[in-house]
Amino acid sequence: MARIRVDADRAIGTVDRKIFSGFVEHLGRCIYGGLYDPGSPFADETGFRRDVAAALKELNPPVLRWPGGNFASNYQWTDGIGPAEKRPKRLELAWFLTESNLVGTDEFLRWCEREGYEPYLCVNMGSGTFSEAQAWVEYCNGTKDTYWANKRRENGREEPYGVKLWALGNEMYGDYQVGQLTAEEYVRRARQFANVMKRTDRSIRLVSCGQNGWSEWDRVVLEGLADLVDYHSIHIYTGSSDYWVNVLAPHQAERSLRAMRALIDGVTYRKKLSHEIKVAYDEWNVWYRYTEGVYEPSDQPPLEERYDHSDALAVATYLNIFVRHCRTVGMANLAQMVNVIAPIFTRPDGMFLQTIYHPFRMLSEHTQSVALDTFVDGPTHDLVESPENMHWLWPQPVADMNPFQVLDVAATRDPDKSTLTLSVVNRSPDEEITADVELRDVVVAGAGQVTTLRHSDPRATNDFDRPDDVTPVESVAHVSGGSFRYAFPPCSITVFRLPTEPA
Ligand code: AHR
Repeated sequence: MARIRVDADRAIGTVDRKIFSGFVEHLGRCIYGGLYDPGSPFADETGFRRDVAAALKELNPPVLRWPGGNFASNYQWTDGIGPAEKRPKRLELAWFLTESNLVGTDEFLRWCEREGYEPYLCVNMGSGTFSEAQAWVEYCNGTKDTYWANKRRENGREEPYGVKLWALGNEMYGDYQVGQLTAEEYVRRARQFANVMKRTDRSIRLVSCGQNGWSEWDRVVLEGLADLVDYHSIHIYTGSSDYWVNVLAPHQAERSLRAMRALIDGVTYRKKLSHEIKVAYDEWNVWYRYTEGVYEPSDQPPLEERYDHSDALAVATYLNIFVRHCRTVGMANLAQMVNVIAPIFTRPDGMFLQTIYHPFRMLSEHTQSVALDTFVDGPTHDLVESPENMHWLWPQPVADMNPFQVLDVAATRDPDKSTLTLSVVNRSPDEEITADVELRDVVVAGAGQVTTLRHSDPRATNDFDRPDDVTPVESVAHVSGGSFRYAFPPCSITVFRLPTEPA
């Protein structure tokens, strides 16, 4: 038996909907053959696939990060503008592929505009210069009679695109990154980039390139750039074929966010900053199976991870964590959205939704703007990590955080206290857990909705011939008053959406 207590008065912060954002990179079949496939019967008149766009729309990501990733560090954005037939094919050094440049700035930004996504562009701080980054801001946002703004007009776009979110490079600390830098070199260069980009458009919001939240790199970079940036980016990938390691490793994000909270508070106070800095968790996901192509060329389409049900529990846990740490996270981008470590998987004749699609959609749809403190008391699990079950390229040990509550819980409400949501992940592979849920300050005022994603086999996957093996079920929530008892099935994600009124 477990107890969950939620007090509608104990708000812990405002959830920025940007935590449900995404990332699409020029990598493998994410853009070409995924999002964009002009030869496909599913393509619209601009070459973007309608079926993929429709599935993405259901996830409702407010922001899409583009064009990389590691790709960004050797991307010449000027290759991707103007007449398609004149665009160069480039040897791509991050993923050892050939970049056709058929999807460039205008194609991506126009598509985002049509679909209703805010674009978030990452500038090339690897092989690129600050003049090129300045020119990109001018091309996208320039309003005057100047060279790059006029180039945009020549290319058929009169109105500026008004791109607000710009990242100062990607993972510049990595030895795999084109143009790797030390933290001190990065700060010096990033200040030069920021300076000319901001002089071109004062209204843009910059994102510094961080690492994991607790590293020396993060400390030096935030110290050096705090006066210029609105976000500090960090990345996390976890995963293991060991069930418990897989579902509990996302708690590493809690460590990162606690460390970032302290870092941001310290820098803000010391430097007397008048603006707020938030974390952009602009790459996060489960990813451990397909790492071919990361350090050297591979014959396999890169990073085409097939997700199982246990990965869906991990993804739901990540999202619960972002809600609980909403005072710190201002944006989070699932990496990635199509084919490459992605919830949407295509082939020329169709597509299917991977298991991880479902928790993302459930929480994107139901999460409200006010995050609430939750109290959980129930069965716990002590994680045992070993070299055998920590086989990821960058293992993320979390056993020092033992014991873990088996139920992971996040709660939100709307500002009027008329809707309350509760997201509960039961990570036990075989135990149903019954919990007494106690609401304070509000009572349930009518029929609610409960969406459940469950499967008896944590290894279950969806595929072209079994697209709905792991799929959510919706029902009426038979709960009322200020408290109710609920049996959470093993290996499940349960999201309640309850109409409420003052107690
Ligand atoms: O998302 C795949 C890759 O992972 C990105 O290109 C890079 O930024 C990260 O290492």
